[in-house]
Parts: sequence; structure tokens; C-alpha cells
Amino acid sequence: MDSLSIKGGVPLHGEVAIGGAKNAVLPIMAASLLTAEPCVIRRVPRLSDVSFMGQILTSLGARVNLDGDTLKIQAVKIKGVGDYDLIRKMRGSICILGPLLGRLRRASVSLPGGCVIGPRPIDLHLKGLSQLGARIIIEGGYVRARAQRLMGGEVFLGGRAGPTVLGTANVMMAAVLAEGVTIIESAACEPEVVDLANFLSAMGARIVGAGSPTVTITGVKELHGAEHEVIPDRIEAATFAIATAATNGEVTLLDARPDHMHAVLDKLRESGVKVERRGSALTVKRGGQLKPVDITTLPYAGFPTDVQAQMMVLMTLTPGISIITERIFESRFMHVSELARLGADIAIEGPSAIVKGGRPLSGAPVMASDLRASAALVIAGLVAKGTTQVKRIYHLDRGYEKIDDKLKRLGARLGRMEES
Ligand code: EPU
Repeated sequence: MDSLSIKGGVPLHGEVAIGGAKNAVLPIMAASLLTAEPCVIRRVPRLSDVSFMGQILTSLGARVNLDGDTLKIQAVKIKGVGDYDLIRKMRGSICILGPLLGRLRRASVSLPGGCVIGPRPIDLHLKGLSQLGARIIIEGGYVRARAQRLMGGEVFLGGRAGPTVLGTANVMMAAVLAEGVTIIESAACEPEVVDLANFLSAMGARIVGAGSPTVTITGVKELHGAEHEVIPDRIEAATFAIATAATNGEVTLLDARPDHMHAVLDKLRESGVKVERRGSALTVKRGGQLKPVDITTLPYAGFPTDVQAQMMVLMTLTPGISIITERIFESRFMHVSELARLGADIAIEGPSAIVKGGRPLSGAPVMASDLRASAALVIAGLVAKGTTQVKRIYHLDRGYEKIDDKLKRLGARLGRMEES
């Protein structure tokens, strides 16, 4: 198991290219199961989650080939069973359920199991698929779904914390091959859902309204192969923007989609960070003293939960009190006690973290618990005095392509070490 050793105190400078979005490419890969024809997906980030999904598709019978950043998938003949050993490694793999049901009218997919950021129920996915006519039972740790006929219908996907991203993806992917019209109400509006809808449309699906809370899908008899380029990763871009502000550097993010990042850029500006936008490039630097801000995570277009941990680090550097309220995954605060090991002063009160910022951070060994918590610890390590060793760095490789190389090119002093 690798760890990352970081010598803090170097401001980041230069340019960094943003890769394709993890949370877009995973459902898009799953959508390739909907046709027997070849699909070509470009701008695919080299991530361990992408290779897990590739293994899952291979285990279902698809041929998967990654060449550079181009992925070719062909699912001529597939089986409908997603095994526990693969599915449990990545929660996002639940998005094979919709396409299997759409294509085969049956699916048996292991329940993904626990997750460190809190309970991750799939009741809304199952409700949505049932409303299309699937009979669903949970048996032996598996979701077993079957439909004589999939029929379009009205599906409401609003939950306690708002809409569900992968639930919307699953229902969309089943509905494209259902008979008649499906209307999803309270659909997730995330850009990754829109990217999936664009890929499905390129395959011949009829989808209107993706990116809004009402998505209308008119089922078609079959889909064909398609080519698609994945959108830039707004969470990777936000992570580099925050790392730049935290280290008091100046970095230009290339190939980004600033129009997908309004909530994050707005909060960065409010906290005293200058963000200049030129087309798909964003230049980030501090504009003077950092200012405390309050943040509440919300479904898109609100502030993303996937940037909450990274933003918390910036707040620890900001004199004054900032309050971060997590409304999507309420126990997504595993990074707080690790940040405290570096000297941060953060108290948890229910769904809120109260950050008393301004104390200097000093390097220490810390443990990564999930992907975004790892990113936060890396940012803290880049700022902290002395050396920070971030253990269990494999979490980072799930969602950040070559992050150590990218940071090194921006001047960071860090290296990978094998943990004993
Ligand atoms: N929820 C339910 N019932 C469901 C599904 C979700 O109550 O059936 C609740 C969840 O417990 C949560 C909220 O709804 O409180 C939103 O969860 P959602 O279903 O939208 O999350 P997801 O689709 O499983 C994706 C991303 C996550 C990201 C969330 C929220 C992928 C592969 N994962 O998960 O990404 O945090 O949306 O934006 O797309 C990450 O990249 O680090 C990550 C965790």
C-alpha cells in the first residue's frame, strides 16, 4: 500500500490539464452494455475506478480495450449477473443495474455494501426501476430484477437529501429501451447526468430535459454504437483550484468547464480568491487576505459534497470562523480528525463543521479514509510546515489521474513511498 510524503510550504505555480470526469465516465461505460455494437469513449481518465468498471464489464462478457485515453467497449453477448467480489470494490458499479435490465430484461447485481462516507441506500434506484415494471427482490445479498416488459411511466426520484445521481442514471438507462414514455421527476441535474444523456442520445436514445429536474425519455427498440468525449472533471478542477489558493500560488487550469463550477468559484471568490476565466481556462490566485465563508453542500447547482473536504482545508487557513454544513452525506467528516492531527481546530455539531481558522498547520502522518478526504489531506500537506505522510493513498488513485505527477509539475515536493 503506497503513501504520499509531502514537504509543505511550496506555492503551486504553472498550468495543469484537467482530465475526463470520473463520475461521468463510469455510467457512460455501463451504458455501453445497452448495445451489441462497439462504443468509443474518449478523454477517459486513468483511474483505478475506471479499471474496476472495465473489469466488471469484462466479467459480464463485454470486450474492453483502453488505448491511451480512448476506451473501446463492445458488449456483443452479455450475462446479467454482477458478482459481489467486483461490485463491492466500487459503489458506483451499481449503475450496471439499469443497462442490464434495459438490454436483458433481467439483472442480478450484488448490493455494493457499506461506504465510509455514510449509508448509501439504493431504495430510489429500485423504486424507479419498479415503476418501469421490473419485479425486484433482494436475495442473498443481490438485487434481482426481472421484467417481462419494461413500460415507460412516471418516476419520482426525490429523496431525503434531494435527487439521486446514479439512481437517475439507472432509470434513464433502463427507460431508453422501455416501451413508451418515461418522465423522471426530481431527476438529478448534475453535468455528469447530462453527459450520460448525451452519450445515450448519440446511441439513438430519445431524451429531453437532461440537466433539469424533469427528464422525458421516449423508449426506442434498440440502440447502436456511438463515439463520445467525456466532460472535464469539475471536482478535479475544484481540487486544484483550492490547492492553489491554499498554497498561495498561481495556477491555470486548462481544459476545464467553468460553467459546471459556478458554486465552487463563487465561494472561492467570496473567500478572497481571484478566479479569472478565459474560455476553458481558469487562472486561480489569492486576491489578498482570505475571508471566512459558510458553505452548505447541496445537489447541483449547489456546492458539491465532493469538494467539501478540500474547501475545509482552505477554511482552516482562514482567520475567523467558517461553518460547513454537509447535507448530502451527513457523516462525510472523516477528514476532520485527521486534519486535527495537523493542527486544525474543527468541531462537529450535527451536520455542521465549525472551523476556527488561522492556526498554522504542521506536518504529521495521517490516514486517508475516502477519495475526497484524501484530496483534502494532500492539500493540507502541501501547506503544512514540515513533512506530511498521507497513508492509504490508493483512495486517491480511484479518482485523481496522476495527481502526484501533476502536483510535482506545479512545484510541489512530494513522493510516493511503499508502506511497510
Ligand atoms: N440516496 C437515497 N436513496 C437512494 C440513493 C441515494 O436516499 O436510492 C441518498 C444518499 O444517501 C445521499 C443522496 O441521496 O444522501 C445523494 O446520493 P446520490 O445517489 O446522488 O449519490 P451517488 O449517485 O451514489 C454520486 C457520486 C458521488 C457523489 C454523489 C453526490 C458517482 C460514481 N458517485 O454518488 O461521488 O458524492 O453522487 O453528488 O457518480 C466521489 O466522487 O467521491 C463520490 C462519492
